[in-house]
Amino acid sequence: MNQNPSEKQKQAAAEAAINYIENGDIVGVGTGSTANYFIDNLAKIKGRIDGAVASSDASAARLSRHGIEVMDLNNAGPLRVYVDGADEATRHMHLIKGGGGALTREKIVAEASEKFVCIADHSKLVGRLGSFPLPVEVIPMARSMVARALTRLGGQPQLRTGFSTDNGNIILDVHHLDILNPVEMEQQINQIPGVVTVGLFARRGADILLIGGQSGVETLS
Ligand code: 5RP
Repeated sequence: MNQNPSEKQKQAAAEAAINYIENGDIVGVGTGSTANYFIDNLAKIKGRIDGAVASSDASAARLSRHGIEVMDLNNAGPLRVYVDGADEATRHMHLIKGGGGALTREKIVAEASEKFVCIADHSKLVGRLGSFPLPVEVIPMARSMVARALTRLGGQPQLRTGFSTDNGNIILDVHHLDILNPVEMEQQINQIPGVVTVGLFARRGADILLIGGQSGVETLS
């Protein structure tokens, strides 16, 4: 089957992430097409791991289909490694995530993990975050109020229509935000009442970035 270049790059990054898995790990697993490639690779070494903690119902289902035990984070304890994709990444290891709407559980599993290995194709590597609309998970009753607050921050929030998160909330995708200081903006948006999570992963960004490119996988750390 002929694959487009970015799919090949995602697949290569996902395969490279397997090198970060150790025997007996309970692996934190992200969400999205790149994370799916990682799950498929993880299945090949499933005899070496003790299980996985998933950041979404979709990833949990895929892991189970491969016969990998899916564990509750509360029972798994702190994790050694979390592997997930991103919508945008910088060389400062700051990320935008949440294109698939799983940002809250992704942030929880990332926080619970010692090492966050982010896997992506080359198109995701950017100089400055913000061309990709920033996803914000919001409690439904706070939608309009949060949208007004995000507008005051200079963005143009748009409701992701027909979508509800695994937690039963809505997503506002914020266009045209000037994200000069990702750590500060993450904090500012998280402080708006009604915001569950902002898809900026800056305070706790990636520890390792594996970027699939035309000539192999580049490792940034
Ligand atoms: C899901 C995410 C994904 O990691 C992000 O959207 C990238 O997805 P893909 O690997 O399909 O490009 O944050 O909430």
